[in-house]
Amino acid sequence: MTKVGFFKQTIHDLPLGHGKHHRVLLRVDYNVPLRDGKVSDDLRIRASIPTLEYLLDKGCSLVLMSHLGRPEGHDLSCSLEPAAKRLEELLKRKVIFVDDTAGDAAYQAVRNAPQGSIVMFQNVRFDKREEEDSEEYAEEIAHAAQADYFVQDAFGVVHRAHSSTRAITEFLPSVAGLLIEREYEVINGAMEDPKKPLVAILGGAKVSDKIKVVERFVEIADTILVGGAMANTFLDYKGVHMGASKVEEGQKSTLDSIYEAARKKVGDKVDEFLVLPIDLAVTTEVKENAKRHNQHLDKIKSDEMALDIGDESIEKYTSIISNAKTVIWNGPLGMSELDEFAHGSARVALAMATRPEIQSIVGGGDTADFVLKWDAKEGKSFSHVSTGGGASLDLMSGKKLPGVECLLDRGK
Ligand code: 3PG
Repeated sequence: MTKVGFFKQTIHDLPLGHGKHHRVLLRVDYNVPLRDGKVSDDLRIRASIPTLEYLLDKGCSLVLMSHLGRPEGHDLSCSLEPAAKRLEELLKRKVIFVDDTAGDAAYQAVRNAPQGSIVMFQNVRFDKREEEDSEEYAEEIAHAAQADYFVQDAFGVVHRAHSSTRAITEFLPSVAGLLIEREYEVINGAMEDPKKPLVAILGGAKVSDKIKVVERFVEIADTILVGGAMANTFLDYKGVHMGASKVEEGQKSTLDSIYEAARKKVGDKVDEFLVLPIDLAVTTEVKENAKRHNQHLDKIKSDEMALDIGDESIEKYTSIISNAKTVIWNGPLGMSELDEFAHGSARVALAMATRPEIQSIVGGGDTADFVLKWDAKEGKSFSHVSTGGGASLDLMSGKKLPGVECLLDRGK
């Protein structure tokens, strides 16, 4: 893969340091899971650290803002305080948390913070104007932060045009952080100039959520492996009797056009290009101790539902992966929260992780959650584990992300 240059200015372009003090307002995505008041998965916090350290090394003071969850109003179950604590542990330095998003308390906390300190504001979504991309709210945030620059590093949320992602750039010179730059370089690099063969693995629940990305992979991939409930919908379309399996209704015309595009590309080799499971792991009840039972496609009974790809499919998929140079994986291949139905995802993860010659990219959201639980090296067994769910899908689909488009262009 050759390096695809990033098209926006980054913190490297800012005239920081040189004996001058600057204050930076930094948007991070600390939308992290909490358990018993503590952060239970800190991937996104760890992923923000290179940007924080770069800015702190340049002598900057930092004001951090983020969202967490989808609160309605000032709902303290979505407070960012646990994220501030986790950040404090990771950086081994104080984070001044203020339970205010843009008001006087926020302003005073910034004003009283010593030079070189980190202040973190409360969840921006506690104010409903955030999701309205309100310039009034963005201006209040900019006022409270008293910053010289805005740095966008919240990759997971830049597919949203919100006050803290889009409107804020109206009020401060705005550039990207190192996480955004890396996500773009790795994902766009692999999509635009991959080392071939490129294998795309697509799983998860719905075809309708992933139409754009499927279409893009039909254009650029050498092989597409389909799994998860998404595969049920493909198999149903092909006339397989899927028993009690989850199948998404109303996808015929979408699948018609996917197959038409695939046929245009590979002629009668469609089934070797767009690969579906040849067997499935089924059960009659979704429960913790449900047993995995492998079933061939023509044998699925009316009360059986497919919750994973079957063992023969696993062998087939992992052998295709072993010949790839680039693998991009989006969506678990089965109901991976139940161990018996996580075999497909686990074996695919293993096939990618044990071959250092493969550029292995894991999309965010459920796939990243699975991989982080599976990988004893916290995701480092892969070339890249994206911190964005919807954002990484949109980027892979070739869509423009509003929270990045509004940053200063390179060369200006
Ligand atoms: C995510 O977790 O995908 C991002 O933080 C965005 O969150 P949202 O879907 O609530 O906007």
